[in-house]
Amino acid sequence: MNYIKDYENLKDKKVLLRLDLNVPLKNGVITDQTRIDKILPILRFLLKKNSKIIVISHIGRPKGEVNKDLSMRPICENLEKKINKKIKIVNNNIFELKKEDLFKEPNDQIVFLENIRFYEEEEKNDSNFSKHLAGLADIFVNDAFSCSHRAHASISKITEFLPSFAGLQLETEISALKKVTTNIKRPITCIIGGSKISTKIGIIKNFIPKFDNIIIVGGMANNILSHQGNSIGKSIKEENCETIIKEIFETSKNYSCEITYPEDVLVGKNIHDKSQLKELNEITDDDLILDIGPKTINKIKNIIKISETVLWNGPAGFFENPNFASGSHEIVKAIINKNRNNSIYSVAGGGDTVALINQNNAIKDFNFVSTAGGAFLEYLEGKELPGIKALK
Ligand code: 3PG
Repeated sequence: MNYIKDYENLKDKKVLLRLDLNVPLKNGVITDQTRIDKILPILRFLLKKNSKIIVISHIGRPKGEVNKDLSMRPICENLEKKINKKIKIVNNNIFELKKEDLFKEPNDQIVFLENIRFYEEEEKNDSNFSKHLAGLADIFVNDAFSCSHRAHASISKITEFLPSFAGLQLETEISALKKVTTNIKRPITCIIGGSKISTKIGIIKNFIPKFDNIIIVGGMANNILSHQGNSIGKSIKEENCETIIKEIFETSKNYSCEITYPEDVLVGKNIHDKSQLKELNEITDDDLILDIGPKTINKIKNIIKISETVLWNGPAGFFENPNFASGSHEIVKAIINKNRNNSIYSVAGGGDTVALINQNNAIKDFNFVSTAGGAFLEYLEGKELPGIKALK
């Protein structure tokens, strides 16, 4: 793998820089800036070298359609203040954009392309689209470890058309995670939550031989509860997961890995509601499961107590509404209490998980916090991520 920090002559080079600026937004306001702060070093590095920087990122999952709510604009404005430099957003159709259209003014040093997922070709890893992107620059830098599990055009295919390099943050994340996975102490507990069920559910089975405890909370737990015959009302659920869930429980019988999932839950009629504690057999058709209940929290705390290592991705509930945040906050507290007396090694990852840990002012109380969620889990699974493979 080639590293951008070792590249000698970057002056006036046009650098296509893939970042992950997929930050949480509420009514256009950024609610957690960690991912932006983490890419400041690569921007400052390239600015100091007098490169011309073309930033590419995605926000959310617009599925190939323009969606004004998922524009890069608020992120650009935030970044402009942080680096005290004007940034231009290029709205032109990428297929019509030419290299000479960018950096027309001598002082132009950074431009942003609009949300790259407005183009369906991005997620299709489309060759022609990658070629057009490549035509805008001289070199490519991937500083988006947290997107590197996606075989997408601006992460993977693009490397076939430009000399490609690993960015500073990507290098930091990989070397930290390498350390985590080589010196890991048992018992190991992995907590998986959040709402990106499809990204994560397939990974669990491969975790079973490696870990002693797998705790499933958040959206994915709904699939498990439904599979066990419970009503989950209107709660989010991924379709066609029956086989994979069966396999998860079958596989766990062959290993000493305990699977834990909610025993009681907090429900609401909508995401803005107040919370109501329910046993699993009390959930009605108009309920939304939005957090774990106190029995489940206690069970998780007891598992954390006997663990030497904890790996965590994804909140336990819809923590954006404080009425459904207690499960997630209690997990943070249980980990940091144990971390403060050095009796646990703790690693957390993912945009929402980082936001949650930040709300508790507890980043420093974890041994390592990765910006990556899905990529973090796939790395732990032992998979070579397509974006990393492409850099090699
Ligand atoms: C993330 O938030 O994990 C990355 O930005 C990837 O997003 P995705 O799961 O929508 O591909």
